[in-house]
Amino acid sequence: MSDFIDAITRPDISVLTPYQSAQRVLANNETTNKIVPSANYASGNAKPVWLNANERPSIDGVNSGEQEFNRYPSFQPQQLIANYATYAGVGDDQVLACRGADEGIELLIRAFCRTSTTPSQADSIIINPPTYGMYEISAKTIGARVIKVPTSAPEFQLNTEQLKKIASANKLNEEGVVKLVFICSPNNPTGNLVSAEQIEKVVNFFKDSALVVIDEAYIEYSSANTQVGLIDKFDNVVILRTLSKAFGLAGLRCGFVLSNSAVINVLKKVIAPYPLATPVADIATESLTESGINNMYSEVNNANQAKSSLFSTLFSLSFTEKVFPSKGNFILAQVKNAPSLMAALMSDNIFIRDQSKQYGLPNCVRFTIGSESEMRILTNALIQFEKKNND
Ligand SMILES: Cc1ncc(COP(=O)(O)O)c(C=O)c1O
Repeated sequence: MSDFIDAITRPDISVLTPYQSAQRVLANNETTNKIVPSANYASGNAKPVWLNANERPSIDGVNSGEQEFNRYPSFQPQQLIANYATYAGVGDDQVLACRGADEGIELLIRAFCRTSTTPSQADSIIINPPTYGMYEISAKTIGARVIKVPTSAPEFQLNTEQLKKIASANKLNEEGVVKLVFICSPNNPTGNLVSAEQIEKVVNFFKDSALVVIDEAYIEYSSANTQVGLIDKFDNVVILRTLSKAFGLAGLRCGFVLSNSAVINVLKKVIAPYPLATPVADIATESLTESGINNMYSEVNNANQAKSSLFSTLFSLSFTEKVFPSKGNFILAQVKNAPSLMAALMSDNIFIRDQSKQYGLPNCVRFTIGSESEMRILTNALIQFEKKNND
């Protein structure tokens, strides 16, 4: 393990031997922790005899095709890892598959942030609000502190001065230090990208004391802006990805953490022994084949066109104060009266997201880009709302 990663890992996790599942204890594939049966079997057992995991030997009626639901799934399914690594342009040992990017967030905090009964001695994460809410919730449920370094409209770029100040006082040998800096790009709910220059600056500020976690849940809507190349340049870069957005598989619960193998190996100590259900791994693997990826990009194209059209509609309405350009599959807009717009749309069975309680976003609402027909219904409802308000 790299010395730096060892130094920032929770000491009790550093020395922890992970649960030795039936697969892991005999594994001879380091990336997937999978047992690869011997080709030089001693007697007549060409077909492996699995008697090591207290599974039922067979099950009628439920197994379908190749899937054997009586068996535990792979810890890190080999083909899924290989497909995602190829898609993302990283090595297999730089990928961890997990239950959505949300689980990635939680694993990182659990692995790196020390907790304490004296709150000031607990490690912290930095977030840059307004941003995705789960960084703070996960930190709080685990017992890590949250330091907020807000950004402001209209650009929502990072406060690098403030981050630099925090970084220069961040000393790993002290108690209660910053271990993780979360940067969401494209950011939810504002839709902006954080500039590559700012991200690299922050990575440099914290290169000796914390991991910078770049949440790229929406990156497919703006693929050229991925920061995945930073993984090989710096020891302290982590990227979060998901199949929930552009790949259209939110119900599957599958996401990925990308980083150097030292970080991935720490997370492998903390994650559950069988994180992904067999059908999840199979569907996810299929979505990452060439045709799955082409299909995803064609949907991204449609969503980006629908987004431009919704942007123009919102811009033309008199009750919108501001419409924020977006690199995700959603648009944030500031309106004159968010509760009344929310209520009017809801009475029409149209559900958007109120963001008014987010830092610096009064009267802001977020519209997800839906299908062509959903966008038509939304547009009509917005025009009706405007008419009623002007009567
Ligand atoms: C920025 C961001 N990160 C992560 C997630 C969670 O993704 P997943 O569904 O993979 O857990 C979301 C979901 O809305 C998100 O907006």
